[in-house]
Amino acid sequence: MNTRSRVRAGAVALAFALLTAGCTGSGVRGTPGAAGVRDPLFPKLGNGGYDVSRYALTLSYDPETGRLDGRAEITAEATQDLSAFNLDLAGLTVRGATVDGAPAAVSRAGNELTLRPRDEIDDGSEFRATVTYDGVPETVTDADGSEEGWLKTEDGALAVGQPTGSMAWFPGNHHPSDKAAYDITVTVPAGLAAVSNGVLTSRRKTADGRTTSVWHAAEPMASYLATLAIGRFDITTGTALGTVPVHTAVDPVVAAETAALRARLPELLEWGTENFGRYPFAATGVIVERDDDLGYALETQTRPVFSAASFDTSTLVHELAHQWYGDSVSPANWKDIWLNESFAVYAEWLYAEDFENTPAQRSFEKAFANDAAWAFPPAEPPTAEDLFGPPVYQRGAMVLHRIRQEVGDDTFYEILAGWPAGHRHGTASTEDFTRYVESVAGEDLDGLWDVWLYGDGKPAGPTD
Ligand code: ARG
Ligand code: ZN
Repeated sequence: MNTRSRVRAGAVALAFALLTAGCTGSGVRGTPGAAGVRDPLFPKLGNGGYDVSRYALTLSYDPETGRLDGRAEITAEATQDLSAFNLDLAGLTVRGATVDGAPAAVSRAGNELTLRPRDEIDDGSEFRATVTYDGVPETVTDADGSEEGWLKTEDGALAVGQPTGSMAWFPGNHHPSDKAAYDITVTVPAGLAAVSNGVLTSRRKTADGRTTSVWHAAEPMASYLATLAIGRFDITTGTALGTVPVHTAVDPVVAAETAALRARLPELLEWGTENFGRYPFAATGVIVERDDDLGYALETQTRPVFSAASFDTSTLVHELAHQWYGDSVSPANWKDIWLNESFAVYAEWLYAEDFENTPAQRSFEKAFANDAAWAFPPAEPPTAEDLFGPPVYQRGAMVLHRIRQEVGDDTFYEILAGWPAGHRHGTASTEDFTRYVESVAGEDLDGLWDVWLYGDGKPAGPTD
C-alpha cells in the first residue's frame, strides 16, 4: 500500500468507527443538557435534558459548627441523549459524584454543577446520580431583600426555598416545573429534632447517640417547597380529615402562646376541603419557629413554616390554602406566581366572609383602594424583585373576585375546587387557568383578563 492509499484506508476506517459508534450508543450522539429551563425571571434556574422522579437526601447537621454533610441520590429520566447534565447548587463543596454507579466528572461555575457521566445517557432511560457534598450552607438574599435558603436559628437551622433557596442545601433541578418525590433522612445531635415534609417513617438513635429521622414525601413536590427545621421542638401528633397524620413542631418557648391556633388545624383543613376539594397530601402539620428573622410564613408542602409572630389565623388559612394552590398545582414558571398567591389571599377573604362577617366584596373594595396593588399586572411581574409584591397578592385576589362576580357563586366554587383537582400534583400556567375558567363559565372573558390580569394601571371602577 502506498502512503496515499494508506491514508485513505485510515479515513474510511475512522468513518466506519464513527458510524458504528453512532449505532451502538457508545459514542458521540449526546449533547449536554441545558443549564436552565428559560424561566423568564430566572433563566438559569432548573436544567434541561432530564426529569427528576425522586430525591433521596441523606444529611447530617452539626449546629455547633454549622456544617452540613450531605449525599443526594437523584433518580431521573433523560429527555434527550445526554453527554452531560447540570444540577443547581449554591455554595458547599462537592466531594464526588456518580451516575449509575460509575464515577462522573464534576465541574462547577456559579450555581451550575455539571456532571459528565462515563457513559452517555440515552434519551428516555432512567438514571441515578449521586452527589456527596459538605460545608456551611449559605443564606440566600432575594431580589426583594428577604432571606431564604439555609437560616441558622438559636439552636439549629431552618431551610426554606422560595423561590431559589433550596439549592443552598441540596443539588437538584430547582425549578417548579420539575416536581419529584422526596425521601429526606437527617441526623442531628441528641436532644434536637429534624422536621421535614411528608410522613415521618422512622426516628432512631445512632450508635453515637445522635438522632436520625426519616421523612417520606410521596406526592410530587416542587423543590422550593422542601423544608428542614432542626432544633429543639415540642412535637404534637394526631389525625386530621379522618386519616391524615398530623405532625406539628413548635419551639418550646412559643408553644403555649400558639397552642390554641395549632389545635384548630384539623378544623381549618375541613373548611379547606369543603371549599377547595379533597386535601391533596398524605400528611399535614405546621412548624412554628421562635424568631421572626424570616419575616414571612411559607407554604412548605404538607408542613408550612411560621414564626410565632406570623402565626395568626389568616396567615394559617393562607398557608393551608397554598397546599391546594401552589403546592398541588404549582406554577409552570415564576411569572405564574399570582396563581399561588391570589388563591391564598382569596382564601383569607373567604374565611373572613364565612367566620368574621366580612363579605369578600368588602375585602375586594379595600384591596381596590390600595395604591400599591396597581404597580404592575399580576400575571406580569416585571422582575424577580416583584414576585411577592402587592399586585401579585391583592390584585391577584381581585381577579378571582371579578371572576366570581362574572360567573356567580355556584360556578365560582366549582372553579375553586376544579382548578387544583384538574392539575393535582402537576404544574400549570396562567393561560391554562384562563382557558379553564372560560370553559367552566362557558363564556369568553377576554375583557376581564385584559383589564384585571394583564392591564397596566387601575381600572376606572371596581366593576370595569
Ligand atoms: N409564599 C409566601 C406566602 O405565603 C411568601 C414568601 C415570600 N418569600 C420571599 N422570598 N420573599 O405568602
Ligand atoms: Zn402566599
